[in-house]
Amino acid sequence: MDCLRITGGVPLAGTVTAGGSKNAALPIMAASILVDGPIALAGVPDLVDVNTLALLLGYLGVEVKRQTNDDLRIECVDNRPTRAEYDLVRRMRASFCVLGPLVARRGRGVVSLPGGCNIGNRPVDLHLAAIEKLGADIHIEHGYVVAQARRLKGAALHLSGPFGPSVTGTANALSAATLARGRTVIIGAAREPEIVNLGEFLNSLGARIAGLGTDTIEIVGVEQLAPTSARAYQVIPDRIETGTLLLSAAITGGSATVRGARPEHLTAVLEALCGCGVDVTSSAGHITVRAATRPRPTNLDARPYPGIPTDLQAQFMALLALANGTSIVGDAVFPDRFMHVAELNRLGARIEHSASTARVHGVPALSGATVMASDLRASAALVLAGLAAGRQTIVRRIYHLDRGYQRLETKLAQLGAEVERYDESQRPAAALHEPALPPPG
Ligand code: EPZ
Repeated sequence: MDCLRITGGVPLAGTVTAGGSKNAALPIMAASILVDGPIALAGVPDLVDVNTLALLLGYLGVEVKRQTNDDLRIECVDNRPTRAEYDLVRRMRASFCVLGPLVARRGRGVVSLPGGCNIGNRPVDLHLAAIEKLGADIHIEHGYVVAQARRLKGAALHLSGPFGPSVTGTANALSAATLARGRTVIIGAAREPEIVNLGEFLNSLGARIAGLGTDTIEIVGVEQLAPTSARAYQVIPDRIETGTLLLSAAITGGSATVRGARPEHLTAVLEALCGCGVDVTSSAGHITVRAATRPRPTNLDARPYPGIPTDLQAQFMALLALANGTSIVGDAVFPDRFMHVAELNRLGARIEHSASTARVHGVPALSGATVMASDLRASAALVLAGLAAGRQTIVRRIYHLDRGYQRLETKLAQLGAEVERYDESQRPAAALHEPALPPPG
């Protein structure tokens, strides 16, 4: 199992390029089920989650082939399969995004319920209510959602629940509605740039979608979606990876420029970095940060877009762990998303958390330790903290990291970080912090 060994205390500096957005690529790939004919996508990162979805699509009769580094060629070659197995859906919740396209294009979808994960309860009630409102008969059978409809029909859908809009719920409903008969209105739709990217992709195939980026999206159903040009469709840059890279410079007292980023997708994040005393400059296509001597304490509350993304909450908490004062951090999207607190405290942070709030008492320095990743973004936070901590830090179970970051250590090394990936079965962590166990006998 891979680990990262990080030698902390090095102020990062330099320029790095943002990759394509995981959370835009996944629903776009799932929507390929709707399309007759080959499509080309550009800017699709080589991530575990992308490859998991490509595997699932293969079982559903959709061929996914990587052409060059970031380009995919996708073609639906068999419209008969309709079942998405538990073993694949449980690995990656976004697999659930195939449900809407399957029902809309093939009249039936049998998709395993995704189950929960480390960032909290992950219901799909909003997805199911929307697809049922579009006219599908839905029932649950042995842990699978079985949804079928001869032809979906347009309706007024509500995609906002107690914690705000559902991003992939909006993706499922939006994709399904493109082939429904008549007009659909999604009220309380997610406004995330990834949903805009999906909607514009569907429009490039002949869909009729308006209102993208607002909380009310209108769709007029069409008979068929097909490529209108051979040009590859561009996936947007990953705003969460961009924010993570900016924070890696801020937490180490360094400076960095992220190229290929979209500053307009990160307005709240850049404002929060300024609030922490970080100097931020940006122009079309790139963002530069220069760290403050020590971060200022700042209260943050993760919210749906255009607020501070919940996917950067843990990474900001790592920065605030070094602030000269106390910060209050909340998460209105996933109130339980604080698995990273205990591990950050092992690195010398002083964070208390109760209910859906964390009190981050800044400390002058963190100290290296062996820590355990628990989910994708928590593992990124531990890497950032390790970059700032004295001595060395080992982050274990970084398979979590590989789900959403394409060799993050390589990009950090481009900024001067001393980070080494290794397989702990080849070199136990004992060499660093854990005393070697006495030989048996
Ligand atoms: C997407 O997950 C992202 N994943 C998540 O990123 C991100 O954290 C999340 O949106 C919020 O921005 C992808 O896009 C692949 P939601 P999603 O449905 O769509 C509740 C990462 O690290 N809810 O927007 O699954 C839910 O419990 C991942 O890249 C319902 O109540 O999240 C949560 O509290 C982690 N009923 C809130 O809504 C539903 O039917 C937002 O969830 C669906 C969701």
